Amino acid sequence: MAKPLNIGMIGYGFMGRAHSNAYNRVSNFFDLPLRPVLKAACARNAAAVQAFADRWGYESIETDWRRLIERPDIDAVDICVPNNLHREIALAAAAAGKMILCEKPLAMNSAEGEEMCQAVERAGVPNTVWYNYRRVPAVTLAKRLIDEGRLGRIFHYRANFLQDWTISEDLPQGGAGLWRLDAAAAGSGVTGDLLAHCIDTAIWLNGRISDVGAMTETFVKQRMHNLTGQVEPVGIDDACAFLCHFQNGSLGLFESTRYARGHKALYTFEINGEHGSLKWDLHDLHRLEFFDHGDEGRLRGWRSIHVTDHSGDHPYMDKWWVPGLQIGYEHSFVHQVADFLEAAARGESAAPTFRDALETQQVCDAVLRSASERQWATVG
Ligand SMILES: NC(=O)c1ccc[n+]([C@@H]2O[C@H](COP(=O)([O-])OP(=O)(O)OC[C@H]3O[C@@H](n4cnc5c(N)ncnc54)[C@H](O)[C@@H]3O)[C@@H](O)[C@H]2O)c1
Repeated sequence: MAKPLNIGMIGYGFMGRAHSNAYNRVSNFFDLPLRPVLKAACARNAAAVQAFADRWGYESIETDWRRLIERPDIDAVDICVPNNLHREIALAAAAAGKMILCEKPLAMNSAEGEEMCQAVERAGVPNTVWYNYRRVPAVTLAKRLIDEGRLGRIFHYRANFLQDWTISEDLPQGGAGLWRLDAAAAGSGVTGDLLAHCIDTAIWLNGRISDVGAMTETFVKQRMHNLTGQVEPVGIDDACAFLCHFQNGSLGLFESTRYARGHKALYTFEINGEHGSLKWDLHDLHRLEFFDHGDEGRLRGWRSIHVTDHSGDHPYMDKWWVPGLQIGYEHSFVHQVADFLEAAARGESAAPTFRDALETQQVCDAVLRSASERQWATVG
């Protein structure tokens, strides 16, 4: 019989919904030692958070996250609020002995991130950071193939994360829905928001990044600020591209922008090794493309693996439907909850832990430093 684990959710936006869906679904599909219970949802607007709680099945609401953390009936705190609030909430939750599931990026910068790591490690509380793309089955399969040595020595890693939603100069910055454009709330632009995902996956698949050479651009220099009503300078990076060296000797090439007209959320990566290559595309997330140079010459070519096998060969897929039927974006969050609950029952954290996510933060910091100083920067 699974033991209940009482969740306190902070934030009811995009991620509040994605995570609530995962908590609601996970016990239907996975046999786990813990069963999440939607105990309380928290945000500042009582009517809005009550409507959210009613829709998703939370038992109660709070309008102050400090009250939520004080509650003895909350076991785990889920941080789904803008980046500038992650640190303060995580420090308080760790001090109260709560488990923590924190949205990415871990923090506004590595100094904050280090403080958060020390807090959870001192408190000994299970933790995880929601770099959910690791748990798209095709991406997890890529990790297994690389770890089995099927690509051999790795030469190249390249990744893109492209969007187009901030091209209009009339779009304001700041406040609900647009905090991503406000450096005070987001910390950075596409670097912390989008490239952080690419960097987390890259470190997981291909190991540590040692140094970076980056450029950033802010195409729209000033926007009306929703909180002040004034036209203010834009402090975020609208676009970022960087080159890097991985510690395994391979070269990396990363690009992200919110100005790639026609692209809504195009996350792709490709890895080229001595014996083979892999590529993946979020728009076709259930497929992994694999080229194996070991194939017989006349049949050699890219194969497109539909990652839906139910036999246990394809990660997580034995929990879902029948072979050939695919799953989607939201399932990556269900998988992360499942792995977290397994680990938490043993008193452990689930990767990426706060400490793992700090590595990504350090790369982001180095990218921004390199771009502003116009020279290569060492990570860490
Ligand atoms: N893993 C992913 O793929 C992914 C995707 C999107 C966002 N994120 C991350 O999730 C976090 C939230 O992003 P989002 O897209 O859900 O944002 P959102 O704007 O949709 O929602 C933010 C929520 O925070 C609440 N909030 C703001 N200030 C608060 C306060 N002081 N107290 C309580 N609640 C408060 C708002 O009411 C809102 O419900 C960010 O850190 C973001 O980077 C991760």
